Amino acid sequence: FSSLNSIKRPELIEFEGISMVHFFTDNWENVQNFQARPDDILIATYPKAGTTWASYILDLLYFGNTAPERQTSVPIYMRVPFIESHFPGIPSGVALAEKLPTKPRLIKTHLPVQLVPKSFWEQNCKVVYVARNAKDNAVSYYHFERMNMGQPEPVDWNNFLQMFMDGKKVFGPWYDHVCGYWEKKQTYSNLHYMFFEDMVEDTGLEVERLCSFLGLSTPIEEREKITKSTHFDVMKGNKMTNYSTVPVMDFKISPFMRKGKVGDWKTHFTVAQNEQFDEHYKQKMKNTTLQFRTVI
Ligand code: A3P
Repeated sequence: FSSLNSIKRPELIEFEGISMVHFFTDNWENVQNFQARPDDILIATYPKAGTTWASYILDLLYFGNTAPERQTSVPIYMRVPFIESHFPGIPSGVALAEKLPTKPRLIKTHLPVQLVPKSFWEQNCKVVYVARNAKDNAVSYYHFERMNMGQPEPVDWNNFLQMFMDGKKVFGPWYDHVCGYWEKKQTYSNLHYMFFEDMVEDTGLEVERLCSFLGLSTPIEEREKITKSTHFDVMKGNKMTNYSTVPVMDFKISPFMRKGKVGDWKTHFTVAQNEQFDEHYKQKMKNTTLQFRTVI
């Protein structure tokens, strides 16, 4: 990963109608032509909605018992390739996915629904979408931009929030992302829509629901074990899940496993920002039945 040490913060670009950085568009042809298999499972999220958490839960459900050495030696981002990623000097997400020895293959994406490689839909793959309330999602994304040299530099929180509201963040508007998958679910039954807030409130229940969607009959003791291993504190202390092995991230600025809470937005939004955000949110979300909780 030493090549990643020299990464310069990328510019925000416009691509296929959304804001992007080149790391996620440089391999576009291969991403779009990716050949999914019917048993592939796609984990889709807006950045910072709980991707790593969901990925690790799925990984343990499928491979927790069969490959113990994987758990201690292969970081989660290698086990669950980030399909559109293309960073210098390391294998692309597509290359990693094509080489995955596991069955099923677990694959991660942040692409909005309209840009997901077609073969996932054609093969009727299972899709697990995790959504997080806009306010906490924005706060988490802000700290992620600060610490991740693979992201454009955020000027300050106020500027970040304005750009988030304007949809000018990598992977486009949060609003369209969460609503896009929500709409898709109405016609595509193999999509399981989860909420970060529900996962925090009752992880065990969400693991159970996930199992029933996936058609797994994982026994309760096993599920409880997984719930424990994927607790925030345990994942934060686990080198294979806390991203401490990635040099583009500066944990001195902010750790990847930062707080893992619902409602941290309250320590960031001013009263004025909150009022403005709520007003704008109402407009943006007026045509959807999708509802979020900003506190639990
Ligand atoms: P915070 O920045 O609010 O702490 P992603 O994996 O999509 O990048 O999302 C990262 C966010 O999920 C971070 O949010 C991180 O702390 C949180 N997270 C990761 N694992 C978690 C867990 N096991 N429990 C609660 N939150 C978790």
